[in-house]
Amino acid sequence: MPRFPFPEFPNGWFQIANRSELSPGKSLEQSYFGHRLMLSMTECGELSIQVIREHDGDGGAPEASGAATAAGTGPTAVESWPLAERCGLIFVHHHAEGALPSWELPSLGTFDEPGWTPLRTTTLEIRSHPQEICENTADIAHLAAVHGMTVGDRDDIKVETLGTLLRVGIGLKIAPRPDSKDASVDIHMWTENYGPALGVVHLTNPDGTETFSTYAPTPRGDGLLDYRISTALRRPGTPEEIERALEHSHRYQCETVLEDVPIWEKKTFHAQPRLSEVDGPIAQFREWYGQFY
Ligand SMILES: [Fe+2]
Repeated sequence: MPRFPFPEFPNGWFQIANRSELSPGKSLEQSYFGHRLMLSMTECGELSIQVIREHDGDGGAPEASGAATAAGTGPTAVESWPLAERCGLIFVHHHAEGALPSWELPSLGTFDEPGWTPLRTTTLEIRSHPQEICENTADIAHLAAVHGMTVGDRDDIKVETLGTLLRVGIGLKIAPRPDSKDASVDIHMWTENYGPALGVVHLTNPDGTETFSTYAPTPRGDGLLDYRISTALRRPGTPEEIERALEHSHRYQCETVLEDVPIWEKKTFHAQPRLSEVDGPIAQFREWYGQFY
């Protein structure tokens, strides 16, 4: 009995590495989408990816995904999948039938402006599905219940969809963590989901510090995914002050995600959940996400 009533591997762009993990002439071997992937960088810095063979687990049958392998692909098949790079993050395009991308990732242009630190990335291994991770964007009620945030006026919650983009805007009061000297902050936060596996949050805090965060779940197979959380920051200050602020902000993002992880790993998917009006636009999110299968 599969845990989710939809394919394990959605179609679209997925982060599989950061450029900083690669060096010229060196390859990175990874397992994603039930396949072994070899990501390589040439001496001139160009990237390529090859599917080197099908993933065969530990000799057992792969979990029912029904969509992992294009018809006619044999165990020694070698093929190349489309790659894209944004802000030093590397994405591969996965499609169950091997179709070419029908849309491109956005440029994430804000981050090209001067003054930003490089993105700092942490990867967590989680037993869940990208849809479940991204659904958190629409799960307004969990912000208070799980993260202790105070959600502002519900009339201010905005949900917009435009093709493969879904954005949710919300007013929040974020209380400091018990061990922190921070004051609580009032923010208005837009979370933008670009396709099935990339969330982006660009925030300007009341003190003028800007943070740029990306959240990228990439399924490996057998019900596991790698969740990459990346943070960059822009603010005045000495290099030491900026480094301290980046480390602080990145740790905050990761600690917030770690509050969600035990729920993601245990929760059961209900196709017809009993929702109240404070739960958030879960149904709208799921209808939007359905385009990625
Ligand atoms: Fe959360």
